[in-house]
Amino acid sequence: LSKKVEMTNWEKGNFINYKKMNENLNIVRQRLNRPLTYAEKILYSHLDDPHNQEIERGKSYLKLRPDRVACQDATAQMAILQFMSAGMPSVATPTTVHCDHLIEAQVGGEKDLARANEINKEVYDFLSTSCAKYNIGFWRPGSGIIHQIVLENYAFPGGLLIGTDSHTPNAGGLGMAAIGVGGADAVDVMAGLPWELKAPKVIGVRLTGKMSGWTAPKDVILKVAGILTVKGGTGAIVEYHGPGTDSLSCTGMGTICNMGAEIGATTSLFPFNDRMYDYLKATNRQRIGDFAREYAAELREDEGAEYDQLIEIDLSTLEPHINGPFTPDLATPISKFKEAAKANGWPEEVKVGLIGSCTNSSYEDMTRAASIAEDAMAHGLKSKSQFVVTPGSSGLQSKASGDGQLKTFEEFGGMVLANACGPCIGQWDRRDVKKGEPNTIVTSYNRNFTGRNDANPATHCFVTSPDMVVAMSIAGTLNFNPLTDTLKGKDGKEFKLKEPTGEALPARGYDPGRDTYQAPPEDRASVSVAVSPTSDRLQILQPFQPWDGKDAKDLPILIKCQGKTTTDHISMAGPWLKYRGHLDNISNNMLIGAINAENGEANKVKNVLTGQYDAVPAVARDYKKNGIKWVVIGDWNYGEGSSREHAALEPRHLGGLAIITRSFARIHETNLKKQGMLPLTFSDPADYDKIGPNDRVDLLCTELAVDKPMTLVVHPANGSKPFEVKLSHTFNEGQIEWFKNGSALNTMAKNAKA
Ligand code: F3S
Repeated sequence: LSKKVEMTNWEKGNFINYKKMNENLNIVRQRLNRPLTYAEKILYSHLDDPHNQEIERGKSYLKLRPDRVACQDATAQMAILQFMSAGMPSVATPTTVHCDHLIEAQVGGEKDLARANEINKEVYDFLSTSCAKYNIGFWRPGSGIIHQIVLENYAFPGGLLIGTDSHTPNAGGLGMAAIGVGGADAVDVMAGLPWELKAPKVIGVRLTGKMSGWTAPKDVILKVAGILTVKGGTGAIVEYHGPGTDSLSCTGMGTICNMGAEIGATTSLFPFNDRMYDYLKATNRQRIGDFAREYAAELREDEGAEYDQLIEIDLSTLEPHINGPFTPDLATPISKFKEAAKANGWPEEVKVGLIGSCTNSSYEDMTRAASIAEDAMAHGLKSKSQFVVTPGSSGLQSKASGDGQLKTFEEFGGMVLANACGPCIGQWDRRDVKKGEPNTIVTSYNRNFTGRNDANPATHCFVTSPDMVVAMSIAGTLNFNPLTDTLKGKDGKEFKLKEPTGEALPARGYDPGRDTYQAPPEDRASVSVAVSPTSDRLQILQPFQPWDGKDAKDLPILIKCQGKTTTDHISMAGPWLKYRGHLDNISNNMLIGAINAENGEANKVKNVLTGQYDAVPAVARDYKKNGIKWVVIGDWNYGEGSSREHAALEPRHLGGLAIITRSFARIHETNLKKQGMLPLTFSDPADYDKIGPNDRVDLLCTELAVDKPMTLVVHPANGSKPFEVKLSHTFNEGQIEWFKNGSALNTMAKNAKA
């Protein structure tokens, strides 16, 4: 392990550190003295402090040092804006940004791309200049989907990557622990802070046998999703192992890991094997494959490693599956599917078949799908349904175009879209059915929640392998099982589709694709970041003010929330996402979904200065204008839901001081601390009921100390005697500094200067 091997062909001087990983692992091994799973090995070899870290699966919070960060263009905006406000000259951990989410599918690849470049120009300009400035690799629109680019260029066995997208686990196909996170976590790692993760449990999936015929890697995860359900993977890493793993292609393993996000898993991964070596070689990274072979003993589970749960799947008997509609865990094997469709009244006609996306657009997927299309065309048939292809990357696209698969799809009646997320994320200007009209689409994507693809809640979306999508598109109906049923050819004769065949890797290697990568320039100091002061989509963040060192007196309660208050209630998504790079504009959605305990209504609170009722953001702005800080009172599990950092940034931006609740969802609580807010809980949850929505409060901030309660003095609106309430918190020493300095980033900037 003496060698130094670079992580990627695109950067100089960022090395894979198997030596250090090995040292860390040995320290932990001595402490734990038991066989380890592969997932544990990766995590423990990336510990910030392997000697002293407390380690208990499902309990401890691990402080980790990821190797890399990857961001997609929608989430990168706020992440980079926050990073900028820390005032550091460059990122402390290798980082890349990928333009894929903002490209809308309308008429096909080139034109859609040109339109996206126009509509999103200011966002792309900002991302490209800020990446250049802060030493971030930038993949321009047209380069491909983040997870495909990461697999082709950045993933390596044993590595730890965080990415601001839920399907980041795709890189598990190359033996990497790749974990989806919110923007705030990415910012920490970009700035050099350790990253915290609750030590995951490990679910083992043991694969035996070998798949054949119409069964594809996708069927493994479709089956697992059916077993574990959408919640079953929460707080766990899914670790595949067993002899069956060697029969899967690297990209097939990527597909399986990608869709592990659908069962809520922290990530999924496969042990290093020869198939990964072959893929590394085909993508011009043989030296990484050779290096991994040297370290191979630690790139898999120890013998006797124990899993918190174990699932066994025999690939030889695994049937093709079709999951859906409306949820990815409703798994039906093809042999039972017709019956199920009839019994449930699912619309039988398949309107659109869609293949590709980050989940299923490998060379193997494309060649297999093309083989079925060719077979149909040899019998004079084309796709009966509309047929849409989303290639995963520009390299793959030019390969599949050079080798003829894309042409096949076009002859088959298909439309090839830009190599971007498109319909998968709802960037689809679909015109063939009206909103509300029940209809069926079949995709090789990963998510099929209501309305995800085309914003039509009546669209029944089924998720399956690309092979099944093609077969069902030819038949144009859900009522078709290619394993048993025949089709009628142009010559009037019945025929059965041949089993798909494909190539795991292109025989003559991958194509470099278009020149869409922008490396950070040598001279970064002279780059200026492009943000127009008149932009309504982007706004430079100003560092928040430090604490004034005083107790806060006579604060109004902006809103006393009643019942569920999720991050969606605090910072709504939908149309607001357009403003995710503009804190002031997006703050107009602050808490507009929360229910006011005073009147049971959303977005209607009393302004104590005027006595008038108004929208929550408007009242907060009025207080801020008048130099008055405010607090929010919340109910149980305040801030559950996505890890969206805007839900913490907005109250801070509009002048909030504290959020006082019965309890918090942990990630939101941490996000609030990072932004310099005080997340506090009633020491006695019953005190929630003692406070009226129009009372005033004093918050004794000077009492803030580790493990000590704080005092809240309540001045009831009805004029009765003030009373005290005790508040608890979970601040540690370091986090108290965040509050004092105004935010975690301010603290980091201060330390960097010192
Ligand atoms: Fe994009 Fe869909 Fe994947 S949104 S990153 S293609 S899950």
